Order: sequence, then structure tokens, then C-alpha cells
Amino acid sequence: MPKKRKRAVKEKPGHRPGEAVHVLIPNARLKQRIKQMAREIRRDLPDDPLHLIGVLKGSVFFLSDLAQQLGGEVSFDFIAVSSYGKGTDSTGEVKLIKDLDVSIEGRTVLIVEDILDTGLTLKYLLLLFEERHPKHLRIAVLLDKIERRIADLKADYVGFVIPNEFVVGYGLDYDERYRNLPDVSVLRLGPRGKTKIE
Ligand code: PRP
Repeated sequence: MPKKRKRAVKEKPGHRPGEAVHVLIPNARLKQRIKQMAREIRRDLPDDPLHLIGVLKGSVFFLSDLAQQLGGEVSFDFIAVSSYGKGTDSTGEVKLIKDLDVSIEGRTVLIVEDILDTGLTLKYLLLLFEERHPKHLRIAVLLDKIERRIADLKADYVGFVIPNEFVVGYGLDYDERYRNLPDVSVLRLGPRGKTKIE
């Protein structure tokens, strides 16, 4: 039988004309910090079974890496929300797209978010989850854009505080693209793209 020839896979970052991507936090640094975060979380909650709730879709890689670093009993679930008027005239209106699959009553819940920006999404989720009477409710975010905050809200665990730049990669998107990049990167749009992303 003829052997299948392996094709060399070229690195194709998927840029389109007028878009440039600059690495802000390399993947190795993300992994290192996530390991530390897992230790911090387990130090605070050493014996509790942890129920992670990933906020789709940006949190998937962070949740996956964090879950692997957390020792002890761990389960997870996902929720999807969408917000309106984001970045332009933030209305704070958040809509539930997909609810949790299982009850969180009496459980130690960790909300896992890729980025905390205005804080309106997490404020909505906190109110929603508090009504469901978990035993503990904590928040872990990989990235925190403190400058953009509107809601009075702080995460319990923060990976990196970042400047007010548009970031993509490691789950974060621009128009649904770039989520698959391994690093967190800054996206700059050139003359042929939009000049401002907000
Ligand atoms: C991003 C991120 C958070 C939210 C944070 O989600 O994943 O859920 O925005 O913003 P806020 O603090 O201003 O509310 P996005 O709506 O981009 O969806 P995605 O995760 O599917 O990319």
C-alpha cells in the first residue's frame, strides 16, 4: 500500500488585508499564569468540588487549561449570553442565549471568563446565579481591562491586567476569527479595514 505523504503544515495566522496582529501575552506565559491561578483557587477552596462555568465562547481555552491544572474534584458547564450596544453606547442589556445544563444550588461555582471589560456581562451573571443559591460563587478571569469598567465589579482571580487594546487569540475573536491563535495578541486595523474597533 502506498504510504501517505505528510504535508508540511504552514503556519497561517489567518490575517486579512488591513489587519495586523502583535503578540501581547505568549502562550507559554498564559499557561504559566493559569497554573498559578489554579494554585490560588485551590489554596482558597482546598476541599470543595469545583463546578466551573465557562461563558461561551471566548472562555473555552482558558477553562480547558484551568480545569486541567485544578486538582481535586472538578466539573464544568457552559452558559452563553449576548450583549447589545457594546462598545458604542453600552446599554448594559444582556440576553441569555443558552442556560446551564445542571443546577448550581449548594455547589461551589467558579465563573470562568476570558475577559472582564465593562463588567456588564459578569454583573448580569452574578445576579442570575446568586438567585440559584450556590454554596460559593467566585469569578476567575484571564484578562482584566480595568480602564473600561462600567459595572462596580471585581474578579476574585485575575490572570493579567491589560491595557485598553483590542485583543484576540486564545479564545478571543474579531468577527469570530482569530480565536484559534495560541497567544493573546493585539489586533490593529489598517487603512483598508475599519480604523477603529470599539
Ligand atoms: C466577551 C467576553 C465576556 C464579555 C466581557 O464576550 O467573553 O463574556 O465580552 O465584556 P463586558 O465585561 O464588557 O461585559 P463576547 O460578547 O465578545 O462573546 P464571545 O465570548 O463569544 O466572543
